[in-house]
Amino acid sequence: MTDRDLDDSFVSGPHLVNQVHPGLVDGLTDLWGRVGAAGGAVGFTPETPLAEVRTAAERVVEAVSARREQLLTLGRAGVLVGAVVLRPDSGPLVAHRGLVLDLMVDPDLQRQGWGRVLLDAVVAQATAHGLRRLFLSARDGTGLDDFYRAAGWTECGRAPDAVLLPDGTYRDELWFTRRI
Ligand SMILES: CC(C)(COP(=O)(O)OP(=O)(O)OC[C@H]1O[C@@H](n2cnc3c(N)ncnc32)[C@H](O)[C@@H]1OP(=O)(O)O)[C@@H](O)C(=O)NCCC(=O)NCCS
Repeated sequence: MTDRDLDDSFVSGPHLVNQVHPGLVDGLTDLWGRVGAAGGAVGFTPETPLAEVRTAAERVVEAVSARREQLLTLGRAGVLVGAVVLRPDSGPLVAHRGLVLDLMVDPDLQRQGWGRVLLDAVVAQATAHGLRRLFLSARDGTGLDDFYRAAGWTECGRAPDAVLLPDGTYRDELWFTRRI
């Protein structure tokens, strides 16, 4: 193995994006596209046109720039390979809570613990931000409920038929919460 091989396999992060890099929209679009193409449950299907994914990535980057959302990333050899978004709520009655969104790990790196690393990091970031409670949702039938339970999250609700898949079948959306 050469030094170059070692460099290419090294994953860094999670990094909190403080300043938006000019390549961030491209990197997030590519990652989101790869995860969606592999069947990941992050709002898209393998058939979703990349332009639609890019619009979503632009929305995230705009929200991060405007400090409405926070983005944590993983990188490998200059490529974005993991991401998760924290959206703190605002308003006098709900400023203690936040939503965790768009947790994704590059298909090549899944099942190696990086999802858990990102999830724990976003909880730590929410704690540092002063939040007291987090929520997230996951599509039923993906097996992700075990992942969230193992990480200390509790199921707190089920939205029936909240997701309509391209084959015309519905999936419930499971809601999880965590006190911090
Ligand atoms: C969900 C995701 C972020 C988890 O990250 P990861 O790095 O693969 O997960 P980890 O290695 O930290 O944890 C692995 C454990 O989580 C569970 N798990 C993770 N992904 C799973 C999946 N798709 N189906 C079933 N269990 C899963 C398993 O218990 C697994 O343990 P095992 O490999 O021993 O069976 C990643 O698989 C991913 O990006 N998936 C596609 C996008 C997605 O569905 N995001 C969630 C939106 S709610």
